[in-house]
Amino acid sequence: MRNQLRLSAETTPWPLTTTGLPSPTPTPTSATKTPSSPTATADEDLAVGGVRLAEIAATYGTPAYVLDEADVRARARAYRSALPEAEIAYAGKAFLCRAMIGWVQSEGLSLDVCSGGELALARHVGFPADRIVLHGNAKTPRDVQDALGYGVGRIVVDSTYEITQLAVAAHAGHPQKVLIRVTPGLDAHTHKAIATGVEDQKFGFSLATGAAADAVRQVLHWQLADRPALELAGLHCHLGSQITSVDIFAEAARRLIALMAWSRDEFNVIVPELDLGGGHAVGYRDGDPDFDLETYARTIRTTIAKACHQHRLPIPKLTVEPGRAIVARAGVTLYRVLTMKRIPGIRTFVAVDGGMSDNPRPALYGSAYTARLIGRTSTAPPEPMTVVGRHCEAGDVIAHDLPLPTDLRPGDLLAVPCTGAYQHSMASTYNQVCRPPVIAVRDGVARVLIRRETLEDLQARDVSL
Ligand code: LLP
Repeated sequence: MRNQLRLSAETTPWPLTTTGLPSPTPTPTSATKTPSSPTATADEDLAVGGVRLAEIAATYGTPAYVLDEADVRARARAYRSALPEAEIAYAGKAFLCRAMIGWVQSEGLSLDVCSGGELALARHVGFPADRIVLHGNAKTPRDVQDALGYGVGRIVVDSTYEITQLAVAAHAGHPQKVLIRVTPGLDAHTHKAIATGVEDQKFGFSLATGAAADAVRQVLHWQLADRPALELAGLHCHLGSQITSVDIFAEAARRLIALMAWSRDEFNVIVPELDLGGGHAVGYRDGDPDFDLETYARTIRTTIAKACHQHRLPIPKLTVEPGRAIVARAGVTLYRVLTMKRIPGIRTFVAVDGGMSDNPRPALYGSAYTARLIGRTSTAPPEPMTVVGRHCEAGDVIAHDLPLPTDLRPGDLLAVPCTGAYQHSMASTYNQVCRPPVIAVRDGVARVLIRRETLEDLQARDVSL
């Protein structure tokens, strides 16, 4: 029988990297992880979604992103079942294409978009406008016009300028629902580049300075006008990404509910929705901490109930916006080894046919990944090797010091798991390198969702000598 990446934890063929693997049953707690193997293993028959990875590489070339549809759907369902009372808005910035939007829609999720481009894709496939939330600290006038034109459910406002501009652009008498993005002043202890709950960053209205209260006042000015242009649908916060602590979300909920109570006391207006954003962590390697969705659901539910009881407020509708937690583990990137460099006593470098253009996360955030040999069986002992890309930078590293077989050689295939989120969506064409395709797998069938970029694609934009 061919090995499947979707085997149970006991039989997983990928002991080095089990946390990064697609799995039909999401395993949000570390208790379900298998222990790391002390030896590097290789497997010629390793498969995802019933399709051999080596076969995908042979058919579609490398590098290639592989995406397990069943895994995405299972994680979407896990959110819906853990939080049946909540609206789950998938954060499309993690990965978006037409098929992904279709999966999200059919699993009953809403969609968080953060640009006119993401909105256009959602509109293109007819995603219901009322289930779209538009974000962005600096929306262009065109973004706003497009959102109003499509009738998106909520627009998250991020600055006083934006509130005024939106109110003027919206049709008086047909109020646009808005969420106010609040900065709750909480440090999620994640990488600085993705920490957004703290005071000193570009997003949102500070609770501490009173800016958030002023924003409530400003939106209500337009809501309580004779011909209202805005409607305060809720308060929003997003604390950052790769957050493992559940308590910090509970604290954010308490702080935002206190602001809701202030709005009721000051204006006699009940704010109906609490959006706690996304940021739920994913363990990329064995031993990396995971986000515990069940504990989150229980804690947030209890916290909201208690805080609302204290403030004598009705329970608001809860919205959460996971991106990475839905799609990261469904992805595996396939590379071919191009060359190797051994520096005796120092390091062995394995250079592959991709790199920071298809996965900028190690360079941007110091993110750690694993990789393993696929496509042939090796019994050679492992030695630490650093997998690097083909770009003109020393920082173009995919994974540091991994145990890979000593007989690794050019032409071999490597698979890097847990690459479904913020890989394709942040890919670049650095060094005029074309972006890889995205191949979906399901029930033994592979299909191209996004084709490989060609040099013609790149050169088509270069319109003048
Ligand atoms: N909601 C809002 C308003 C956001 O800004 C984000 C992510 C999310 C939800 C989803 O966050 P997630 O659940 O995926 O962590 N490029 C970085 C991540 C940047 C996230 C930006 N905002 C990375 O590769 O780690």
